[in-house]
Amino acid sequence: MASAMETLSRAMFVAVIVFVATTSSVSASAQEAALAEAPRSKVPYPCLDHQAEAYPFCDKRLPTEQRVRDLVSRLSLEEKEKLLVNKNSEIKNLEFPASEWWGEGLHGVAYSPSVHFGTGPVKRATSFPRPILTAASFNKILFKKIAQVISTEARAMHNENQAGLTYWSPNINIFRDPRWGRGQETPGEDPYLTTIYAEYFVRGMQEDEDYEGRNPSEKSSGKGPEKLKVSACCKHFTAYDIDQWYKVDRYDFDAQVTKQDLLDIYNPPFQSCVEKGKASSLMCSYNRVNSVPTCADYNFLTKLVRDTWGFDGYIVSGCDAVGVMYSNSKYAESPEQAVAYALKAGMDLNCGDTGSSYTVEAVRKGILNVSYVDTALHNSLTVLFRLGYFDGNPKDGPKYGKLDKNDVCTKEHQDLALEAAVQGIVLLKNDKDTLPLSPNKIRTLAVLGPNANDTILTMLGNYASRPCDYFTPYEALSSYVENAKYHPGCINRTSCDGEDWMDYIQSNHQEREAFDRISLRLPGKQEELVKTVSRVAKGPVILVLMNGGPLDIKFAKYDPKIKSILWVGYPGQAGGKALAQIIFGEHNPGSIPGRTYKFFTGEAIYKFGDGMSYTKFTHLFESAPTSLILSAKSKDFCSRLLEDGIPPPPKSDIYIASESDPSPLSQSMKIEIVVSVKNEGAVFGTSIILLYHAAPTAGWFGKPIKQLVGFERVDLHSMEEQKIVFKVDVCRELSVAGVDGTWSVPDEGVHTFSLGNSYPIVHEMKITYEQN
Ligand SMILES: *[C@@H]1O[C@H](CO)[C@@H](O)[C@H](O)[C@H]1NC(C)=O
Ligand SMILES: *[C@@H]1O[C@H](CO)[C@@H](O)[C@H](O)[C@H]1NC(C)=O
Ligand SMILES: *[C@@H]1O[C@H](CO)[C@@H](O)[C@H](O)[C@H]1NC(C)=O
Repeated sequence: MASAMETLSRAMFVAVIVFVATTSSVSASAQEAALAEAPRSKVPYPCLDHQAEAYPFCDKRLPTEQRVRDLVSRLSLEEKEKLLVNKNSEIKNLEFPASEWWGEGLHGVAYSPSVHFGTGPVKRATSFPRPILTAASFNKILFKKIAQVISTEARAMHNENQAGLTYWSPNINIFRDPRWGRGQETPGEDPYLTTIYAEYFVRGMQEDEDYEGRNPSEKSSGKGPEKLKVSACCKHFTAYDIDQWYKVDRYDFDAQVTKQDLLDIYNPPFQSCVEKGKASSLMCSYNRVNSVPTCADYNFLTKLVRDTWGFDGYIVSGCDAVGVMYSNSKYAESPEQAVAYALKAGMDLNCGDTGSSYTVEAVRKGILNVSYVDTALHNSLTVLFRLGYFDGNPKDGPKYGKLDKNDVCTKEHQDLALEAAVQGIVLLKNDKDTLPLSPNKIRTLAVLGPNANDTILTMLGNYASRPCDYFTPYEALSSYVENAKYHPGCINRTSCDGEDWMDYIQSNHQEREAFDRISLRLPGKQEELVKTVSRVAKGPVILVLMNGGPLDIKFAKYDPKIKSILWVGYPGQAGGKALAQIIFGEHNPGSIPGRTYKFFTGEAIYKFGDGMSYTKFTHLFESAPTSLILSAKSKDFCSRLLEDGIPPPPKSDIYIASESDPSPLSQSMKIEIVVSVKNEGAVFGTSIILLYHAAPTAGWFGKPIKQLVGFERVDLHSMEEQKIVFKVDVCRELSVAGVDGTWSVPDEGVHTFSLGNSYPIVHEMKITYEQN
């Protein structure tokens, strides 16, 4: 550490880059080597040329429904069994090549069984920040644009025969348990933000850019575009937020969940993903919910998802969520029984091989009617038809046929990766306006910490590809300051009190899939490293946190030498550049998702929604109703809307009115809340306006203290002012879930709206129901 300390004491300004989590224990090149070896079919696509004549299912002129039925009718039970899993075998009779369903696109087209970077002209793909950071931008247009780039690159790779068309992304579980290793894959702890993320991400993946919605009068609310760009998947349904924590294991974890929590916390993102995003796939999770494995739960998969929400795609199991019903949780007494439970509950595709090994046997044993197998195939194959998979060579396809290797890693795509990192990065502390630094005034910059020169592992996290390009934080910072020094912080066993510096890296493998954290402190000796640096540094210290899950950094918040704290999540291929642009003031940062604020009554170090800017904003409620009258019939309307999913047609006796004017205010049950925001500072900046609602019942019987009901990002020049109109749906947004699992809009007491966390600006509103 001696040389680092020397650099430090000479340094005028010091940035400490602290690395607390990485997700991938396998190097990118090893992953690539393994996947490049995967055997590929000689015939890449079905229904090429001559086959189109031979098989009605290849005939593009026929309706999809008829083509699917034709295909299923040509399959023997043995062949059907082979199509029930992610890895489909070749079907020789039908000149049907082997194929793979399992593709990942969490934050860019990623290494996964159906994606091959080693076998064709596409060697890299655009790598965006992990969703926990992207979500912190509170920018739904950005969520959609990112997904549009992912789906474009996926299509281009498909045309090059390097990727499939079905992607098991996004991950929209609520990051409720702060220990969860996969929280970084999600948009965070807030159900409202996650519902919006789910909707916009899925639409960016599935819809064509000019898609305006399928026939809006269509009854089934889950029906998406007839032709899909790629297929997206809402995962993992449901109440999944533990992987491996001491002896608790996701494969047999039994989540005990109340109806109230399902309604209020766990299910809203999935409902939105299906009803608004119109996802063509949903994945059931590993865990059980109230003792039933989610992949064997008829009430969940069929009654709720398919019948109530109107889901119109295929349900895939987590890998291998069917097998574990027998091998881990012992819910099923045999693998045949596990397959039967899952197919009868409504699962359509088994990621794993239980389905392809035991289905025929389950039918023979009489525990599974073959009609369930047909239904499952119908659901999954229909999605392949919608993707154009049976329409011949994809390069001849009408919409995406022209995409090729030149449409991957374009400048536009890479600029968006930078933009996403810039918009997501959060400034948590900035004493004495230490940031931004001025490059002209800095003589020396010490860039310290085990992750300060990271290229891929912590920058990208897992479910990644090889990025188009990357900038390590150190490299990016060096481009602003001539004398920038880098040191990982701790070199070897001798000089670091018996700790190999690798321990810092190793201990960072502490939040990832299949690995939950056991402590919320910084790993290893990182806290000591930061404290030592702060003690000896002559200049101000800037702490940069690279992590997904919440961290206890109280020590740093109250350390006067640590002037600034930045949270950068896992920022993706352009993360280093984004960080440097923010540190040197080319961009002005916005706000953060952190812990679950909805229920936590203790003092949080930094809360969900905390974040600062280099400028100052003022916010005001410009106008909003102070009292509302809900028509008598609307009470029932609201609960039916929320519980049955499908909105009943508006009627004249469903309305809200204001007390002063009893004529109906709105039949859509929406109120307008107008907020004004002004940039009172000297520089351009982005204000993220978070509108919270607290019901009169806040904090009672498991009800949230407050909840997010709207957000908006606004760019403002110095002294510029803007009005934002929030349209708040009284039924959807102001209802609270009761312990009995029903929704209602509380009508006694005061509803309170507030803005952000730190502004003590509130607006109060009373709600009464009209008497019959
Ligand atoms: C299987 O299901 C079909 C369709 O529901 C039904 O007609 C048939 O009787 C069932 N067969 C058995 C053996 O239960
Ligand atoms: C930082 O990382 C880059 C990329 O791996 C490498 O080329 C460079 O030598 C590293 N710099 C230092 C000072 O270690
Ligand atoms: C570890 O540090 C000690 C003391 O600074 C030094 O003598 C030794 O050579 C270093 N070992 C390695 C492997 O770098």
